[in-house]
Amino acid sequence: MSAVTDTAAAPAAKTPTLPDAQTVTEVKHWTDRLFSFRCTRPASLRFRSGEFVMIGLMGDNGKPLLRAYSIASPSWDEELEFYSIKVPDGPLTSKLQHIEPGDQIILRPKPVGTLVHDALLPGKRIWFFATGTGFAPFASLLRDPQTYEDYEEVIITHTCREVGELEYGKELIDSIRQDELLAELIGEGFADKLRYYPTTTREESPKMGRITDLMRKGEVFEDLGVAPLSPEHDRAMVCGNLAFNLEIKDMLEEYGLQEGANSNPKHYVVEKAFLD
Ligand code: A2P
Repeated sequence: MSAVTDTAAAPAAKTPTLPDAQTVTEVKHWTDRLFSFRCTRPASLRFRSGEFVMIGLMGDNGKPLLRAYSIASPSWDEELEFYSIKVPDGPLTSKLQHIEPGDQIILRPKPVGTLVHDALLPGKRIWFFATGTGFAPFASLLRDPQTYEDYEEVIITHTCREVGELEYGKELIDSIRQDELLAELIGEGFADKLRYYPTTTREESPKMGRITDLMRKGEVFEDLGVAPLSPEHDRAMVCGNLAFNLEIKDMLEEYGLQEGANSNPKHYVVEKAFLD
């Protein structure tokens, strides 16, 4: 399914100014379940790639309705980007999916999160494991020069139900590979470090199956020509639905990796993809 782009110049804001309000600048609908949007960035907001903030809209009861959203844009971007599911009955996303350029959203400028480079010990290869909208924090990390400075190899796996749900990630990877600014910042050839491994589970695509099953079978490692994960060389960040997070966490522990934190860096970190 192709993306519907609305990049028209932002009309004047439609709602009265809210506390912590930011203005939407662009909205893209990727499938009937997924959309991404960009908004202005508060001048004071500093964050580390991979962190999340609370964003939302004013509820019907006059109280802010907020949810945690990973920032999908890199920390050097002058705007902020978010990637979201549309939950038909979801209190927030049933409304948020209708935002248009010029609308206001609420953004609490207090970034937090565990998917940060500081929570990992130095390593040779970093794995980003995502399902669904869990791709969002990696959209930020994959555009962060530090990711390529710290590692010899960067592998992003993305498992979705259907092919159309991979499109946001696929387009982003393509744009990173052609990004002249990143090439200038990190050095020509940085894109050769980036390996992209998309899989689907409910619609035919070149690589089918849950990433966890493909790892168990050894297929991922064969396809990429790398050894199974080891605490000596590999670091991992995980973001997806709860069942996936729990399953892959167990697998990473079986490979000998240990969970890290900001205060105690180790081999892997996990964050939930936040849903309504
Ligand atoms: P599946 O279609 O087999 O359930 P969702 O859209 O429900 O968040 O799922 C996103 C992707 O994550 C789907 O492809 C889904 O596969 C996959 N998935 C769900 N649970 C797990 C799990 N425990 N381990 C690996 N992948 C999972």
